[in-house]
Amino acid sequence: MKKPFIFSSLWCVLAGMLSAPAWANGEATYTAVCAVCHAQGVAGAPKTGDAKAWGKLIKEGQIPLTADGYAGVRAMPARGGKPELSVPEFADAVVHMANAAGANWKSPDAAMLKKIEQRIEKRTAAKK
Ligand code: HEC
Repeated sequence: MKKPFIFSSLWCVLAGMLSAPAWANGEATYTAVCAVCHAQGVAGAPKTGDAKAWGKLIKEGQIPLTADGYAGVRAMPARGGKPELSVPEFADAVVHMANAAGANWKSPDAAMLKKIEQRIEKRTAAKK
């Protein structure tokens, strides 16, 4: 009876991967857009999986961190340099990187997205 047990647990893992949470899409955005800088820490970018660098950022909180990154901060280009990136797409990529460094963030819900958007508006207005 050992074999079937192993197989069924394998299926559980596979099923879990297929029904991955929405922020799993953040990994695709991350790979396509953010990894070019964040994988190696180009230009002082906080390196993905660097718990020390990300620890400070994670403490800032998901709303300000997502909004500031989206609007652009210091050497971090707005929207990761990809103007067509939406706020939810960007937010999920941030979730992916934060979680890679030990956070337990989730894809923002509508209420959080609204707060992120408000902060982006403020930051963009302040820059003009
Ligand atoms: C051209 C290189 C580059 C790309 C592409 C890039 N980043 Fe960054 N990012 C940086 C750098 C450099 C910093 C550090 C900014 C600083 O503190 O000077 C940074 C910082 C950040 C921060 C921390 C912001 C803060 O408040 O300190 C977040 C969040 C972030 N990036 C998210 C992303 C996401 C998500 C993507 C992809 C959608 C992305 N970045 C793509 C270079 C990049």
